[in-house]
Amino acid sequence: MDKFRFYLPTEVFAGRGCVRAHADAWVLGRRALIVTSQHGAKLSGALDDVMSILNDRAIESVLFDGVSANPDAEQVYAGVAAAEGCDFVVALGGGSPLDAAKAIAWAAGAKVPREDFFRRSPAPGEAVLPVVAVPLTCGTGSEVTPYAIITNHEAQTKVNVSGPNLFPRVALLDAHYLESLPKAVMCDTALDALSHAIEGAYSPRATQLTLAMSEEAIRTLLPELLRLAHGEFVNLPQLHYAAMLAGMVIAQTGTGLVHAMGYPLTYHKGIPHGRANGILLAGYLEFMERPCGPLTRRLLDAAGLHGPEELQALVDALLDVTGAEREAPTEDELARFAREPLRLSVVRRYRAMPSPEEVVDIYRTGF
Ligand SMILES: [Fe+2]
Repeated sequence: MDKFRFYLPTEVFAGRGCVRAHADAWVLGRRALIVTSQHGAKLSGALDDVMSILNDRAIESVLFDGVSANPDAEQVYAGVAAAEGCDFVVALGGGSPLDAAKAIAWAAGAKVPREDFFRRSPAPGEAVLPVVAVPLTCGTGSEVTPYAIITNHEAQTKVNVSGPNLFPRVALLDAHYLESLPKAVMCDTALDALSHAIEGAYSPRATQLTLAMSEEAIRTLLPELLRLAHGEFVNLPQLHYAAMLAGMVIAQTGTGLVHAMGYPLTYHKGIPHGRANGILLAGYLEFMERPCGPLTRRLLDAAGLHGPEELQALVDALLDVTGAEREAPTEDELARFAREPLRLSVVRRYRAMPSPEEVVDIYRTGF
């Protein structure tokens, strides 16, 4: 067995009805800040469930439903203002509400001034309000990671605010809440989970344990993605499970080139996060085949695919069936986007570092 360290302090409950069944484990204070977006939590029934449990227990709550896709620091600080007097945070939604909630929990708990928000990271031991995460999509894995991805308009990209105290205290996975999820969102978020499993596998911080988790996530995701592509019934608990597993992987390894390349597609072209990653995945695997042949074969075997081109065909089919858009960047944009990821130390530490031309090739493969 390899030497490794595995840190994951989040208590996870999964299964239908887990929010009500495990209320003793997640009602963590006397006044809750509920962080969500405008619609998802209401449509899924998750908000009603949480509110009724809090009301039954005479726990006060404040609803902050001002989180949109790709939340920025202004939304975080609107949440901080709403958090006045709250002693725990309940986050309901996809990656955006979950990430915003974690950032709010830090900024409110540690009283971080707005001007310092992007200048420093949550320090170990710093006071952070405990977070209860209820994922209502099947991709981000944010319910089991120490990351909050927040848009920084000055830097024109997304910033990973992270620290060990940003892990949610409790995660509640009830796949019943995914039933109201639009197919395009389900597909985009599942592709995000797939990219977490694959990027994490290539990370220099991957271990025997995280590799096994990556393979299990990939093995679980692929049949569901195929069913989605064919318009068939999808096993929602399996999707939730795989997204959580892939989240546990990146909680240890971080993400790499695909995410770094995906951020400009989201920021400048408006392509949702998971879709942007999904578009880039086959080109990335093709690039990694050369320096990391056996590992790439292992990941493709877990996926049941012969080669990266089969993954590209699957992604194309998924985008077609959900009517998802992917506006191709211009040549000028590609040249500009290709410079950004290579500047990031997280990418430079990886097992293989592409040239700017190879980064452009990976972009081209996806479009
Ligand atoms: Fe992601």
